[in-house]
Amino acid sequence: MLKQFLPRSLFGRSLLILVTPLLLVQAVATFIFYDRVWQTVSRRLAAGVAGDVGMVVGLLADGTQAADISSILQMASTKMGLRVSFRPGESLPKPQPGPPEGILERDLTASLIERVGSPFVLDAWSLSRDVEILVELPYGVLRVLAPRERLFTSTIYIFFLWMAGTSLVVFVIAVLFMRNQIRPIRRLAEAADAFGKGRDGPDFKPAGSTEVRQAAAAFILMRERVRRFLTQRTEMLAGVSHDLRTPLTRMKLELAMLGDGPEVIGLKADVSEMDRMVDSYLAFARGEGGEKPVTTDLGALLADLAAAARRAGHAVGLDTEGDLIVSIRPEAFKRCLDNLIANATRHGTRVTVTAARRSRQIEILVDDDGPGIPAERREEVFKAFVRLDPSRNPSTGGVGLGLTIARDIVRGHGGELTLIDSPDGGLRARIKLPF
Ligand SMILES: Nc1ncnc2c1ncn2[C@@H]1O[C@H](COP(=O)(O)OP(=O)(O)OP(=O)(O)O)[C@@H](O)[C@H]1O
Ligand SMILES: [Mg+2]
Repeated sequence: MLKQFLPRSLFGRSLLILVTPLLLVQAVATFIFYDRVWQTVSRRLAAGVAGDVGMVVGLLADGTQAADISSILQMASTKMGLRVSFRPGESLPKPQPGPPEGILERDLTASLIERVGSPFVLDAWSLSRDVEILVELPYGVLRVLAPRERLFTSTIYIFFLWMAGTSLVVFVIAVLFMRNQIRPIRRLAEAADAFGKGRDGPDFKPAGSTEVRQAAAAFILMRERVRRFLTQRTEMLAGVSHDLRTPLTRMKLELAMLGDGPEVIGLKADVSEMDRMVDSYLAFARGEGGEKPVTTDLGALLADLAAAARRAGHAVGLDTEGDLIVSIRPEAFKRCLDNLIANATRHGTRVTVTAARRSRQIEILVDDDGPGIPAERREEVFKAFVRLDPSRNPSTGGVGLGLTIARDIVRGHGGELTLIDSPDGGLRARIKLPF
């Protein structure tokens, strides 16, 4: 469930690992600050103001002379920073309904109840710079305007600003550094991908952290080893085939001079069979590495192949759908499809080739109505020189390289070749080619 929402890329995941604890720490810090510092400070400030108001109320006790009243009010404004006025004969107004009670009103109300002792009305929202407190006295109403600054600390905003600011800076730095750390990993992945698809990527040098460098160096070593193996195999096979060719040519000449006797005919057939085999070995050894990808109409290519098979006397149906323009190595791909169609016509009587564009890939199917291959042997036949008929009878197969070459070519294009059951009763070869 959770996996769906988590980022997939290494970059996203690293950022998440970094940002989650950062946010958590900030949340805890904010909570503690709010709970412990802000509330306490607010309570103490309210108590201070309430105490001052309480003192003024206490001084203006019953029976104070008018002259004393004005000097008390004067003192309150100069020494306590409160603007106080006295309205003789008035009584308290009804409290106005205002916005919901905030932390300031709550604390101030509590402190005023505790320290003033007379009925009062508090208005904390009507004036922008002051808080108005009206206190009922026996012979009038005392109006106190306390500056908001005395009741309010702006530390909390500065604190939040600093937290958000530093987090943003940390986040930006993390993004920049992380990108640099992830780039070598991405490059390694691209190089491995390119090598796997038979493309030689651009020059690749180990870079980044020790572990990534180590993986990159190991990859380069492995790539060299694989390349060496491939060239050794190719050179050996090419050498053997090439050396066989010379005596074969001589044999063909000698046979030609012998004429057309009955015992010569069989020999001739064998020699031409050997010639064909040597040709396939050479083709396999040469590989298709040299060819460059070209934008090709796969539909036309398949039509050519089907037409060629029909000319050779096979029943081959073709069914293509939509535009099938792709970038492929056409000669190699032709060889691959040719091998699959040759297998199908050799083992079945009716062959159907289907090609269609799926969401992100092209699917090519070669179906036949022959005996098929048992499921447990379908991987085996992809190995070089493997044939299911151990007699190596030329009518049931060739040298056993067709599927090996075909799969090599499809993988070289980044695709996959698999063998499955065909609805026609025989074997279905399925190529999935990304584009
Ligand atoms: N369509 C098929 N139906 C049944 N068996 C098949 C089919 N295609 C291949 N096979 C079996 O798989 C084996 C290997 O096929 P592969 O194409 O690699 O070699 P081959 O056809 O014997 O020789 P080559 O293609 O090199 O001339 C074949 O010998 C055959 O036994
Ligand atoms: Mg074959």
